[in-house]
Amino acid sequence: MKTFERRRILIGVTGSIAIYKACELVFALRKAEARPAVVMTECATRLVAPETFRALSGEPVHTRLFADDHHAMPHISLAAEAELVIVAPATANFLAKLAAGIADDLLSTLMLTVSCPVLLAPAMHAQMWAHPAVQRNAEIVKHDGAHLVEPVAGALACGTEGKGKMAPVEEILRAAEGMLP
Ligand SMILES: Cc1cc2nc3c(=O)[nH]c(=O)nc-3n(C[C@H](O)[C@H](O)[C@H](O)COP(=O)(O)O)c2cc1C
Repeated sequence: MKTFERRRILIGVTGSIAIYKACELVFALRKAEARPAVVMTECATRLVAPETFRALSGEPVHTRLFADDHHAMPHISLAAEAELVIVAPATANFLAKLAAGIADDLLSTLMLTVSCPVLLAPAMHAQMWAHPAVQRNAEIVKHDGAHLVEPVAGALACGTEGKGKMAPVEEILRAAEGMLP
């Protein structure tokens, strides 16, 4: 995948059980010689330690709006250098915040600062995905210019079935390839 070579791709990771697939996504981008920078929400760090993404991306992982050792204002500097933002997995909470323009942590603040293309891969329980509020928020963020790789149907982590699984990593990468300027 030559397209990704040396490209600065910002990966937003939120607190979904599909986070293990974000590990694969970051590793795949690194193998494709991209320069992935990972930003995690606090809930995401409860599910997978930032050190895992640090090892997979080969770069520092960003979790805090304040007191980042590498950036005085990470919501601005990380956004400025990004050529593409991929938020995978994207929780219902993240979609709601983005749709409303809420900026209360590093990832949500940064989303209001980026000017590059944005790709979102939602992941959640099927009932959450079908909820009118979530569907409404998905429509709003699409209308605002984000590209959504829709969740797929299948077995969910809770033991039920339905549409809510994060799209396969290959599908996210294919969409990302087409979006890089
Ligand atoms: C084990 C576990 C798994 C979760 N998986 C999901 C999920 O797949 N999708 C989702 O929207 N929320 C999920 N949640 C709930 C979110 O973590 C919660 O809404 C949180 O506020 C999201 O915060 P964030 O968007 O800042 O990461 C899960 C919670 C737990 C404890």
